[in-house]
Amino acid sequence: MIAGEDDARRASVLRDALNQHNHRYYVLNQPTIPDAEYDKLFRELQALETQFPSLVTTDSPTQRVGAAPASSLAPAQHRAPMLSLNNAFDDDDIFAFDKRIREALDVAQVDYYCELKFDGLAVNLTYENGMLVCGSTRGDGKTGEDVTANLRTIKSIPLRLAGAIVPDLLEVRGEVLMFKQDFINMNRRQREANEKEFVNPRNAAAGALRQLDSSMTASRPLRFFAYGIGDRVGAEFPTTHDSQLQQLAELALPVNTMGRVCRGADGVLEFYREIGTARATLPYEIDGVVYKVNRVDFQSQLGFVSRAPRFAIAHKFPAEEALTQVLGIDVQVGRTGALTPVARLKPVFVGGVTVTNATLHNEDEVRRKDVRVGDTVTVRRAGDVIPEVVSVLVERRPDDAKEFVMPRNCPVCGSHVTRVEGEAASRCGGGLICSAQRKQAILHFASRRAMDIEGLGDKLVDQLVDGGLINSLADIFALKLDQVAGLERMGDKSAANLLDGINKSKQTTLQRFIYALGIRNVGEATARDLARYFGGLEALLGADLQALQAAPDVGPVVAQAIVDFLVEPHNRNVIDAMRAVGVMWQETEPAIEAGASASASGKTFVLTGTLPNLSRDDAKALIETAGGKVVGSVSKKTDYVVVGEDAGSKLEKANELGIKILDETGLIALLKENEGIE
Ligand code: IVH
Repeated sequence: MIAGEDDARRASVLRDALNQHNHRYYVLNQPTIPDAEYDKLFRELQALETQFPSLVTTDSPTQRVGAAPASSLAPAQHRAPMLSLNNAFDDDDIFAFDKRIREALDVAQVDYYCELKFDGLAVNLTYENGMLVCGSTRGDGKTGEDVTANLRTIKSIPLRLAGAIVPDLLEVRGEVLMFKQDFINMNRRQREANEKEFVNPRNAAAGALRQLDSSMTASRPLRFFAYGIGDRVGAEFPTTHDSQLQQLAELALPVNTMGRVCRGADGVLEFYREIGTARATLPYEIDGVVYKVNRVDFQSQLGFVSRAPRFAIAHKFPAEEALTQVLGIDVQVGRTGALTPVARLKPVFVGGVTVTNATLHNEDEVRRKDVRVGDTVTVRRAGDVIPEVVSVLVERRPDDAKEFVMPRNCPVCGSHVTRVEGEAASRCGGGLICSAQRKQAILHFASRRAMDIEGLGDKLVDQLVDGGLINSLADIFALKLDQVAGLERMGDKSAANLLDGINKSKQTTLQRFIYALGIRNVGEATARDLARYFGGLEALLGADLQALQAAPDVGPVVAQAIVDFLVEPHNRNVIDAMRAVGVMWQETEPAIEAGASASASGKTFVLTGTLPNLSRDDAKALIETAGGKVVGSVSKKTDYVVVGEDAGSKLEKANELGIKILDETGLIALLKENEGIE
């Protein structure tokens, strides 16, 4: 087919745009669009060029692997080329990939090594006689930038390979990245120092790796995972990818432990789903998984097509970032009256769902990110996290873009809005007079981790509050079938189900009940501590400031919030009314909860460094379930310090004070001791 004028023009526009983005990304380290947006443009150009091969030019970004090395770093030649991966986006792409491979190899079934696709930067490490002599970025695949001095500052990269037999020469391929928590901490430091924050961990890692001054790199928390071998001389390597990785691990190179061999398309898809579920809890960002034919002889047989091997494919997760436009900035009123500015967005598909709103957190955040109505913004939705506006593309700002002003009166009830000095939130002073606060209080009360009332969702609560059927939390239990059945989108059956759900929720636990009340500063953990400490509601209701502070982890702020709540007669009335209609729980002696471990109960733990398997939240949750407490700093009162990779001063302090030190395995063993005592 002959390309029309429009196609030629479009191809040229795409080429120019992609070349510019490449330059911003690779040379300036200042990308202005999310990767997914770049990929979309790239794929559009690829499709046009496939359809009309006459449109392919030598300078087309599809004709080279990467961008030219930045002029300021010295070039470094790779001995074996650094390739790229073809992408798959759905199950069908994977079935087709597996079929191609089976047919090319003429076999019935293929084993693939499945690993994570790290969202960082590819690097090549060259070891001569076991010594790290060169480290470079990928560059155009043949020549990268020499960043040896910078890579040497990364602690997980061995400067000398371990083991008795090391190859004469070895090129190790892997990814440099920054862990999520390190990124958050680093951005906090940047903010405190009034320095520019980084958009995401990958850009932060890229910036750090391509520093001209390696002491700058050293101050940035970078990590490395090895995932392959380039050239090698003078050593036997095993004949499967998984055993090659094991060999790399034996040479002291960090190899990620989430990978495994899976059989056929069904096997790899199971891996994809498993990792998709675990993705949000991983301590680092991944943008997909990679499948590699496990047998190395099969790999050689399959070979390469232009820039990518035929034996491997990247199966991408839905992009977590996308571009869209801010149509307006609304203000939402939360349970405690906090006003949250929310960007109303032109609908955009991101993180696997269509997003129409994104939180802007508070007034300061709107100013800091300088988000205005009409702006084009990058929106992020990771895992189940609420979508947020990450940054603004200032160069696309229209002249009439409108700045946000926090209203002086609550948009729902008209009460005055105040902002306490030193606090980020502006608050509506209306309390439960404000129907927005009432609705949120009800939704919180009904939520899964509180009273767990099935079927009481936001649309229904809107109707119940707006229709005057629920004024206080206790009114929930007085709802009648005909009242509910008469509401919009409610039949007799769903009304009966709701009442059934409400009824069932009456049998609860003291912890859930305390949490459900929505007392400021009393989250789930505090509710659990209070329930465990006081054992029954009467004791809690009778406690004064001092008695409250005697409970574990209850400080003056929390104690005051509880007292403030309980001195309000209407709050006491609501509690009495609920008990009168049969809301009940098992009262206990103030005792250690079932599931607690005798060795961990009542003990204080400090977590430091990155644990190999458990995220910090998971470790904390396990300790707390066992009756222990996690605090931030090491003191004489600390019982155990749990140590992971890159532990810092806390470990030193623990040693100084002679505090017991555990690794992850030790922690788990301790938590299991005498599990389940009463
Ligand atoms: S293998 C022979 N494995 O993805 C294939 N790449 O598009 C060479 N990446 O530039 C790459 N995790 O930065 C491979 N487990 C993994 C990876 C991985 C991330 C990146 C790497 C590469 C890009 C390929």
